[in-house]
Amino acid sequence: MNFITLTTLLLIVVNYVTSSKVLELSDKFIDISKEGTWFVKFYAPWCAYCSRLEPVWAHVAQGLYSTPIKVAKVDCTRFPAITSHFQIRAYPTIMFIKGTSTHVYNGERIKEDMVNFALRMAQPPIQKVSYADSIDNLKDQHDIFFGYIGEHQGTLWEIFTIQAIKYQPHAWFYSMNYDVIKKELKPPNASCVFVYKEDDIYFFETSPELLQNKENINTTLDKWVHAERFGFFPKITRSNFNEILEIKKYIVIAVVSENKLNEISQTEKFFKDMMEEIIRSKKHELHHKFQFGWMGTPDLANSIVMYDLSIPHLIVLNSTTHHHHLPDIDPVFMTPEAVIRFLDAIHNQIAPTYGGKDFIVRLYRGFYEARATVSSMWRGNPILTALVFGLPLGFLSLLCYSMFCADILDAEEEETTETHEKRD
Ligand SMILES: *[C@@H]1O[C@H](CO)[C@@H](O)[C@H](O)[C@H]1NC(C)=O
Ligand SMILES: *[C@@H]1O[C@H](CO)[C@@H](O)[C@H](O)[C@H]1NC(C)=O
Ligand SMILES: *[C@@H]1O[C@H](CO)[C@@H](O)[C@H](O)[C@H]1NC(C)=O
Repeated sequence: MNFITLTTLLLIVVNYVTSSKVLELSDKFIDISKEGTWFVKFYAPWCAYCSRLEPVWAHVAQGLYSTPIKVAKVDCTRFPAITSHFQIRAYPTIMFIKGTSTHVYNGERIKEDMVNFALRMAQPPIQKVSYADSIDNLKDQHDIFFGYIGEHQGTLWEIFTIQAIKYQPHAWFYSMNYDVIKKELKPPNASCVFVYKEDDIYFFETSPELLQNKENINTTLDKWVHAERFGFFPKITRSNFNEILEIKKYIVIAVVSENKLNEISQTEKFFKDMMEEIIRSKKHELHHKFQFGWMGTPDLANSIVMYDLSIPHLIVLNSTTHHHHLPDIDPVFMTPEAVIRFLDAIHNQIAPTYGGKDFIVRLYRGFYEARATVSSMWRGNPILTALVFGLPLGFLSLLCYSMFCADILDAEEEETTETHEKRD
């Protein structure tokens, strides 16, 4: 056998192995879905995002191979009964199914995130830690996790349970005895909540007054978990942007432009690393007011400022009013000290503000998004674009669409096929 046939044969075998782990489902799935644990991709053969997910999904199946979670896919055009049974409204929909409970996956479509999501959902929302050594294992396994210390009773435990169930799709939750970990973690109280985040432990601050009011502690812990579940310098994408805006802090974003291989230029890397270094070295001063992050494409940032930003750039969003702030010099020339001065000015409300939620701004943003959509369509298919926009009505409707449906700052978390198309 010569080399080429050998490699071809190997390729066929490898392909066969990877694809064999993704089960292809039919109508009968409705009856058996309640048995076992399923991670299912609902797709349509014509949908481009589904085909792009195909190889990733095979890797997800490999990643979950040694677990009881069954990874599967179903062609919704062939089995409409399944589509209506699971109320599928967009392709692809990724759903975790265990018994009668279902959870749609809304995160980034990358292998690691999807595997982690499925592993978490297959477990109870809170797992018990019985040995002090296990803490080190957890630190190795996760960049971020939440912990409850104390007896399984009382207000704090009750509220922690509520929030662990709510945030199970996004974060890991553990519980442990005070005696087991008191030496390791030095908790301030025999009953408390903490987050382990990128090498540090932060305790959730409670007071006897706070603990007396169940509703109060519920909303406080909810906000705290929501804000702390993100790292110090996460990548901000269309899929987590709205969740990040829910962190009621200033959102400080380094904007760079990745190529298809996720590479960025030296200048951009230098700038991005500087921003990361600022938050890591000053997290105790900055973290309670500012959430840092970075964006790998400028399009989202461009639609916020409504023109094409030079890259790399720095943009700070007020998450309450949706105003934004831009430095008055080219960010490339900013030193860490200048960035800190800029952030101070924003916090003291003396930096110039732009944008916001007002109607005029929405109108402008509508124009900007429409223009951006048209120019990307033009690049993709000039003739069709000319035909569509030869009619002024076409542009008007696209404008309305961009104004009222596609305002990214107000976009619903639910993703439809349309927003998928726009993501490119
Ligand atoms: C420890 O928690 C209890 C309630 O669980 C509270 O009454 C007490 O004040 C807390 N102590 C400190 C030092 O925070
Ligand atoms: C606690 O907050 C959650 C939302 O985070 C809400 O669904 C739940 O009803 C609240 N429970 C109590 C007891 O206030
Ligand atoms: C946003 O702007 C409002 C009004 O100027 C201000 O009260 C608030 O502190 C700002 N910051 C954040 C993080 O919302």
